[in-house]
Amino acid sequence: MTANELRQLFINFFIERGHKQIPSASLMPENDPSVLFTTAGMHPLLPYLLGEKHPLGRRLVDFQKCLRTGDIDEVGDASHLTFFEMLGNWSLGDYFKKESIAFSHEFLTQILKIPQERITVTCFAGDQDAPRDNEAADAWRALGYPDERIFFYPKKENWWGLVTGPCGPDTEIFYDNGQPKCGPDCGPACNCGKYLEIWNNVFMQYNKDKEGKYTPLSQQNVDTGMGLERTLCVMNGVASVFETELFQPIIKKIEEMTGTKYAQPNIKAYRIVADHLRASTFILGDDKGIMPSNVDQGYILRRLIRRAYRYLSGLGAPAKAMSAVAQVVVDNYRDVYPELERNREFIIKNLNREEELFGRALDAGMKIATKYLDAATDKKLAAADAFRLYDTYGFPLEFTQELATERGVKVDTDGFHRLYAEHQEKSRAGAENKFKGGLADNSEETTKLHTAAHLLQAALRRVLGDTVFQKGANITAERLRFDFSFDRRMEPAELAQVEQIVNEAIAAGLPVMCEEMTVADAKAAGAMGVFESKYGELVKVYTIGDYSKEICGGPHAANTADLGKFKIQKEESSAAGVRRIKATIG
Ligand code: SER
Repeated sequence: MTANELRQLFINFFIERGHKQIPSASLMPENDPSVLFTTAGMHPLLPYLLGEKHPLGRRLVDFQKCLRTGDIDEVGDASHLTFFEMLGNWSLGDYFKKESIAFSHEFLTQILKIPQERITVTCFAGDQDAPRDNEAADAWRALGYPDERIFFYPKKENWWGLVTGPCGPDTEIFYDNGQPKCGPDCGPACNCGKYLEIWNNVFMQYNKDKEGKYTPLSQQNVDTGMGLERTLCVMNGVASVFETELFQPIIKKIEEMTGTKYAQPNIKAYRIVADHLRASTFILGDDKGIMPSNVDQGYILRRLIRRAYRYLSGLGAPAKAMSAVAQVVVDNYRDVYPELERNREFIIKNLNREEELFGRALDAGMKIATKYLDAATDKKLAAADAFRLYDTYGFPLEFTQELATERGVKVDTDGFHRLYAEHQEKSRAGAENKFKGGLADNSEETTKLHTAAHLLQAALRRVLGDTVFQKGANITAERLRFDFSFDRRMEPAELAQVEQIVNEAIAAGLPVMCEEMTVADAKAAGAMGVFESKYGELVKVYTIGDYSKEICGGPHAANTADLGKFKIQKEESSAAGVRRIKATIG
């Protein structure tokens, strides 16, 4: 089975059961300051899980690009990845546990024809916040799953949600490869390799607030996510995700360029290179224009590229090997993700540039690092040494930590962070914290700033011309950050003019109108926004007087009069050809 066949089977199955397909959203979430990347298919659906009406109805299906760095140290084994694709179906207050479990069972056993006895499931055991999930277990029993293959686990295993926001008990579905249990306690939570998690059905019926309190949501949702790479691995009976067609062309290219073989002792290096460069290609290939840097997404990207570079050079790769691998990724995926082809040159340019920046320093840095690590007293690397490797040789802290771990040395990371904070204005620690997750709150402040962002884009286009468009937005309750295409510093007079236009629109007390229409109609009506649509779906278009018309998921203030005074706090460069404005209202 090919990846394309699997994507299509999944989508068709759920379309036949009343779901509407939605496109894969950007890898960098819009309007969610709490996370750097889309880590699950549910991210772009947050407003709808919280009760906003989705224009396409209450049953949705998609495949979604996702990225998680939490498992980065596991990459190299048979199943862990940073970038992956998630197949997902949703019920937004429509069907619940019984139907969702029946859909999953039918898809796995009737469509994919996985023998039922190879499927083992887990359910939530219950605690002070929510009861034992007998409803889910009963649904599995009714389908013929015996109690020995229904395991109950606590929150740590069988609960899903981000730091705050919609969440609930889940039922996880594992493929059992048939090998004997590794011991009496062996079960789906064991990592001996017998059980591979392929699908997770989350029953989002609670909202978790900042204090950690759970309250029932106004609607009961289902959020499921199936790992495309893992399921493909099961369907083709191969030993790891790296043996699937999604990775084999990459691996062949590395063999060809390095003259080495994908065999021991090289397997881990090959897998790290393949995973990290696939992930980097997808980050660079997103229309957001993220480049390697020392903050936020750019920092994660830099870490992935530099780690890939280290392992690829260890295999003896020639110059520009990273961009050659990336081209294979683009060729492999361009029919499914056309943005990769659109951004091919950007991907190549950035990988080559990062290689130039880091490649020169790597050899010298490795010598110094080895010297420091050999001399480390009490097996502890001083913060000043780690910082020097970072500052002078471009070694990300995690990179130095990895070298240290290989030699049984610990790095004084707290000390490193103190030095970093002293030397840099923007602390990378902020990015790390953000990456750990949490929801964009749908607070009144954030909602108002979201409306202000629409007015800001409109005003920028009036003042600077219509080559200006949004490249990214990041909104917290305190401020809005807006990135837009423009290639020079804005003059103070231009900033004042922009501010004035936004404040005029606020003073006019304009209603914020929302209409649902097809993408084609939205385009014809002159709406701004992402027009990538293959499915003729309905979208929401928000209109503010004759200032602004944008395709957007919401939510927004009801009237511009709610916003208060708009003030630009800062205008600065964000990336080549991209400027950033920070603004507040109040
Ligand atoms: N959000 C859940 C997960 O990521 C199900 O998609 O596992």
